[in-house]
Amino acid sequence: MRTGPWLVFVSAALFVSSIAFVIAGARATRLAPAQAAPAVQLKAVATVKQIMNGIVVPASTVVYESVATNVTASGIEEVVPKNDEEWATLAANAAALAEAGNLLLMDGHAVDTGQWVAITREFITASTETIKAAEAKSPEAVLTAGSTLNETCDKCHERYQRQ
Ligand code: HEC
Repeated sequence: MRTGPWLVFVSAALFVSSIAFVIAGARATRLAPAQAAPAVQLKAVATVKQIMNGIVVPASTVVYESVATNVTASGIEEVVPKNDEEWATLAANAAALAEAGNLLLMDGHAVDTGQWVAITREFITASTETIKAAEAKSPEAVLTAGSTLNETCDKCHERYQRQ
């Protein structure tokens, strides 16, 4: 068999690129411990249904009821948080929703890595907007963020909730 100059060239090229891999590999090993903090192992405990009934439903009820217009027999009643404590309660419940969103993204809770993640991110954004609205003590901003939040619930249920 004749080994032409091409074979020599190819093997030389392979040799050079393998050195490059060795260098890149060594560099990655050296940088890895400094860059990545040790990951805390999380284990999913609740079902999605329990996250809904235990966190999402109670917290979103507080959000929806904190700014509202109630029509009763005795007239129209405008509900808004009355003092710092009530605004803080609203912000805390919006924060519980945002963190429930983080739980929904955890391994063991996330149903897929596509639409589930996209919709949950919208849910977290709307919850975060609600926290900001409460901190700004703006009833209008709470209503706007709350209605966006409600749309994300519906969007996820249309796609994933199996009755
Ligand atoms: C990322 C997806 C997602 C989002 C966002 C979401 N849900 Fe759910 N929800 C689910 C799924 C999935 C179920 C069905 C769970 C099951 O039956 O196992 C469910 C079930 C429910 C249920 C029925 C619980 C039961 O006992 O059957 C309620 C009520 C509910 N969600 C309320 C809400 C509210 C309110 C919001 C928004 C503030 C919300 N959800 C946002 C995915 C979501």
